[in-house]
Amino acid sequence: MARRTVVSMPGDGIGQTVLPEAIRVLDAVGFESDYVHADIGWEFWITEGNPLPERTVDLLAEHGLGLFGAITSKPKNEATSELSPELQGQGLVYYSPIVGLRQRFNLDVSIRPCRSFPGNPLNFIRRTADGGWEEPNVDSVIFRQNTEGLYGGVEWTDPPRVVRDAFESHAKFKRFADTPGPDLAISSRIFTRRACARITRAAFEYAARHDYPSVTVCEKPNVLRETSGMLEEEARKVQADYPDIQLWSTNIDAQMMWLTKSPENYSVIVAGNMFGDIVSDAFAGLVGGLGFACSANIGDEVAVFEPTHGSAPKYADLVPSIVNPIAMVLTAAMLLDHIGEIDRGNAVREAVAAVVADGSVRAYDMLRLPGGPDVLAKGAASTSEITDAIIARLA
Ligand code: NAI
Ligand code: MG
Repeated sequence: MARRTVVSMPGDGIGQTVLPEAIRVLDAVGFESDYVHADIGWEFWITEGNPLPERTVDLLAEHGLGLFGAITSKPKNEATSELSPELQGQGLVYYSPIVGLRQRFNLDVSIRPCRSFPGNPLNFIRRTADGGWEEPNVDSVIFRQNTEGLYGGVEWTDPPRVVRDAFESHAKFKRFADTPGPDLAISSRIFTRRACARITRAAFEYAARHDYPSVTVCEKPNVLRETSGMLEEEARKVQADYPDIQLWSTNIDAQMMWLTKSPENYSVIVAGNMFGDIVSDAFAGLVGGLGFACSANIGDEVAVFEPTHGSAPKYADLVPSIVNPIAMVLTAAMLLDHIGEIDRGNAVREAVAAVVADGSVRAYDMLRLPGGPDVLAKGAASTSEITDAIIARLA
């Protein structure tokens, strides 16, 4: 195995807690890597007016692999008011550095596996007809288009005249035509054929490699005919290359209902940016929520791996830390998968599974305790104790 270099971006809050824990697990599983630290997050917004310094972008461009913890972000005005005094009044605008990274390196394929670990008390259960309950095995992997759609950032309140003129050329805009500019907000939903083809191919390729029977396009093509329609169209084209994998289609609204009734029916799901965000959070909730939700952002040259959770500021300063490192550890396992270290990735997931199944070492979220310094006294394990238990299973 060639020694790797991974750009480590802990970011803010509990990102700084969980990322080093994941590196401990990577070391323990025998992954040979150097870690170069890169600055990202709130501190650099305040002191430099840029939460994603150019030196961090350069490091990622050089090494191609990033592990990211979490960042803190705040609404525009609050962000501006926290800038250090010498940076005030320069018209600096805060943008999320993780969204920035996705766009900067065209990390257009987001992968969010949502798999239940047997024995996790947070797993979804449902009532059976005879009054008992059952726990269906959830094993869904969501492919979310990561750079376009409603998150493309092309939007206006009081759109300029040219934009209004363009909209007025559409028959359906007539009923909005008299709305005064300041009372009119428009957020665009842009899909490109190239991105639709890439995300659907990534989904089918993953399904083929991991023996999943189906790929489900989860959109709203009956209403959003043009954009959802294009994603479906590209999925049909790609499916021609994977005759053994079925192509299904669900509407996002119906999907949100079905996943609370029969989540075991869905395997690989592909969606645009907004619906992918929604459906992946919903599936994550069925398998343990933020303490378990891992994700990858994949581009052609760069890939960045991150847990779904944020910086959880209310727990960031607790010593010892109480947050669950499993989401970050599973994120690190996705990095291993990505570079072909499949056995090591599987070993990490099996170690997590063993700790979850054993049940004696559990973070406060798994015990359904309200978070706080007292959870350790109530039987919860600390962050590092959970990592230690995972590492012990690797031995
Ligand atoms: P959050 O994910 O940071 O925390 C929400 C709640 O989830 C926490 O209070 C905690 O109860 C729980 N939680 C999160 N991670 C956990 C873990 N590993 N183990 C156990 N429990 C965990 O989301 P919130 O509170 O909405 O946002 C806090 C900050 O994080 C904000 O500034 C927000 O903008 C940012 N954020 C950053 C993200 C990122 O870096 N990708 C994603 C989401 C939020
Ligand atoms: Mg989300």
